Amino acid sequence: MYEGVPIGIAKLDQILGGGLPRGAIVALIGCPGSGKTLLATKFIYEGATVYGEAGVYVCLTEPKDVFVRTMKLYGFDFEDLENRGLVKVLDLSIGTELDCQSALNKIAEALNRVGAKRLAVDSITALSVGLEDAVSRRHMIRLLYRILRRIGCTSLLILEAPLNYSSFGSMVEEFIADGIIHLNQYYNGDGVLVRTLRVFKMRGAAHGVRTYEYRITDKGIEVL
Ligand SMILES: Nc1ncnc2c1ncn2[C@@H]1O[C@H](COP(=O)(O)OP(=O)(O)OP(=O)(O)O)[C@@H](O)[C@H]1O
Ligand SMILES: [Mg+2]
Repeated sequence: MYEGVPIGIAKLDQILGGGLPRGAIVALIGCPGSGKTLLATKFIYEGATVYGEAGVYVCLTEPKDVFVRTMKLYGFDFEDLENRGLVKVLDLSIGTELDCQSALNKIAEALNRVGAKRLAVDSITALSVGLEDAVSRRHMIRLLYRILRRIGCTSLLILEAPLNYSSFGSMVEEFIADGIIHLNQYYNGDGVLVRTLRVFKMRGAAHGVRTYEYRITDKGIEVL
């Protein structure tokens, strides 16, 4: 039977048929400012505080202190969760200058240390930035997948898409992921920013197939 791992955003969990498939590796694709970080944060925070599932949040696009400070504005207190040993926020942001293999080792080490059941990587795009060709990127992704399958945690991997991104299939990650959630945003005819969410695939799940509108508030993401 399908076992969902709830993200903690009620309407989204309903769309997913209960949550992300347990043990799945899911790509979260979105353009700049579409709410990728807030969604992935909710997944890790809710896991630790509501569902008793420890988690690891890997910061690559911004330093850990900036991430922790920003998320506190939405009521996500990661300092507290780290002190309680429920979450590890792993800082692999630009200043840390790691090669890919060492970065993967650090992620595996952090997952084992807290006994993680959930992982968010923000972002895979930043993790593979030093890898020039598709072959080495594919190799890196395969190594990461091997680690995640062995540990068996449910993972949300953020992929950065350019503004007005529509063409799929340009990223190898999309094909090997068990699921794809796409966040989009555009200005409508009245000049108002509209945000929409789609689930493109979710192996084993009878997920919703519509385009769902969502908004971002001071509490994070709300699917309408
Ligand atoms: N309190 C709020 N009310 C309304 N909108 C907000 C609020 N807080 C943030 N936002 C919107 O959400 C965006 C930030 O969300 P988030 O950081 O999760 O996006 P992201 O996709 O991770 O962005 P990036 O591409 O920069 O990493 C802001 O750019 C802003 O448009
Ligand atoms: Mg972000």
